[in-house]
Amino acid sequence: MGQPVTDSTDRDRVIEAPTIEPYPECEDPILGRTGGTPVIEHGGRQAGRTYCKLEYENPTGSMKDRVALGMISKMRADGEIDGEGPVIEASSGNTGGAVALVCARLGLDCHITFPEGTSGQKSGYMEAYGATTTACPDVASDHEDYYARQARRIADEEGGTFLNQYENELNPEVHYEWTGEEVVQQLDGDVTHIVSPMGTGGTLSGIARRVKEEYPEVQVVGVDGVKSNIWTSFHGEDPVEYDVAVEGLGKGERLPTMWFDYIDDVRTVADEAAFERARSEARNGFLIGPSSAAALEIADEYSEAPENVVLTIVCDNGDQYFDVINEG
Ligand SMILES: Cc1ncc(COP(=O)(O)O)c(C=O)c1O
Repeated sequence: MGQPVTDSTDRDRVIEAPTIEPYPECEDPILGRTGGTPVIEHGGRQAGRTYCKLEYENPTGSMKDRVALGMISKMRADGEIDGEGPVIEASSGNTGGAVALVCARLGLDCHITFPEGTSGQKSGYMEAYGATTTACPDVASDHEDYYARQARRIADEEGGTFLNQYENELNPEVHYEWTGEEVVQQLDGDVTHIVSPMGTGGTLSGIARRVKEEYPEVQVVGVDGVKSNIWTSFHGEDPVEYDVAVEGLGKGERLPTMWFDYIDDVRTVADEAAFERARSEARNGFLIGPSSAAALEIADEYSEAPENVVLTIVCDNGDQYFDVINEG
């Protein structure tokens, strides 16, 4: 039997979120469940402390619910989305389901393109919420059949609005005014490091900008895969051929949604280390996705020091990854 990771005092270590509802669509009873995610103390064995912000408590189980709601709200307010859509998005997973939910609630037509390798659990959200979906071949980003290129083509040829989480800086802006504001209010300055997985970089960039406005000394650390180009572009190294198995982690190139000015370091975690950490966390009753498990691997290095307090962003739940979590 494993050792218990909590004691009775740990049960009090939940920091509820303030209520911040930045967009009118938050009045919808289902969309209004977005955001306001708690922070819990992770009962690790380090001398310092690690906290986790549980973004899996959002309606479709990830922080991308915030991005979908915020981007669509802002683009409706600016007239970029009018009438019934369609709203078009390219997603290899969580964003697609989130956009499909927001469109379903707002009565907007929705079309999601995704790479063929996307898991059935993730494309299932898109289909269940009634989106039209197009599975695209797993080809390099410069290929005309690449899923993000196909999304743009659909918008150009058939009309509609392409959200484009990969280039649209509304993505980090939503996290700046929403997730970042929550973090500032929840932790009230009692944090030395923030560690988060990076894909588009939107989550970490937005949080980082807001937190650094209040607490410039907080160290912000992004987590990338090994064969990926967030680390290489951040550190000025030559690009590598992208090949990361952890869903949500890493990118083939630097994107405008990565605001490096607010990020102090980018670290890498190997696929198998992330999967193994997701398995061991699950065995302790903390079922999280492998990208978040990768962030915990890095968080451990900082929380070794007794004076450090590390906040990790838990992007999604492990229930979409039973195939890898239950494999080991
Ligand atoms: C599971 C998971 N982790 C991490 C990320 C990275 O988040 P971001 O794109 O905000 O950098 C994503 C993005 O899709 C994701 O789905």
